[in-house]
Amino acid sequence: MDAIRLAGRKDLERCVEIVRTLPDYFTPDVPDKVRSDWTRCATWVGEREDRVLGMVMVERRSAKTAEILWAAVQAEHRGGGLGTALVNEVIGALGREGVELLEVKTLDESADYEPYVVTVAFWERRGFFKLDVINPLPGWHPGNPCAIYVQALHR
Ligand SMILES: CC(C)(COP(=O)(O)OP(=O)(O)OC[C@H]1O[C@@H](n2cnc3c(N)ncnc32)[C@H](O)[C@@H]1OP(=O)(O)O)[C@@H](O)C(=O)NCCC(=O)NCCS
Repeated sequence: MDAIRLAGRKDLERCVEIVRTLPDYFTPDVPDKVRSDWTRCATWVGEREDRVLGMVMVERRSAKTAEILWAAVQAEHRGGGLGTALVNEVIGALGREGVELLEVKTLDESADYEPYVVTVAFWERRGFFKLDVINPLPGWHPGNPCAIYVQALHR
């Protein structure tokens, strides 16, 4: 049984560790980015048998908009429904707070990078629509086309 809850400071290093289990998805600079983003963002974690196995970090952009900055489920637990449970909880919580538009950036399919095929399908199945592709996106490594996905939240 999965439990989803808001993370506290004590969860930070565990979330960093989860990101580290996914080197095909996150470059080596990401653990430090997760650390530096932590205090200004809200993070939800997913637990199974009292162990944190997944995280979604959200940054508010304005009163009515927010972005999912980081989403990760421990490598060997992917595909078990935890990511969906986390995203559903985030969507519900943000909607109750008055957020109307939620964004997530991901590697566009035009990169032709196999690991992200499942990731792109995941966001589309969770209700996100591709709005644009930016290449290069400032701050991203060259050669990584950034797909901007958005979802309107219904209160
Ligand atoms: C994206 C991610 C957070 C989703 O979490 P998750 O727990 O794996 O997600 P779920 O199990 O709820 O759903 C995964 C979906 O992919 C499908 N899937 C197929 N093959 C899969 C695989 N090898 N691994 C994971 N999911 C797979 C599942 O069947 C499911 O399909 P559905 O959306 O039609 O229901 C997680 O897979 C992950 O950490 N990926 C690597 C990091 C990443 O890409 N982060 C996002 C960057 S933008």
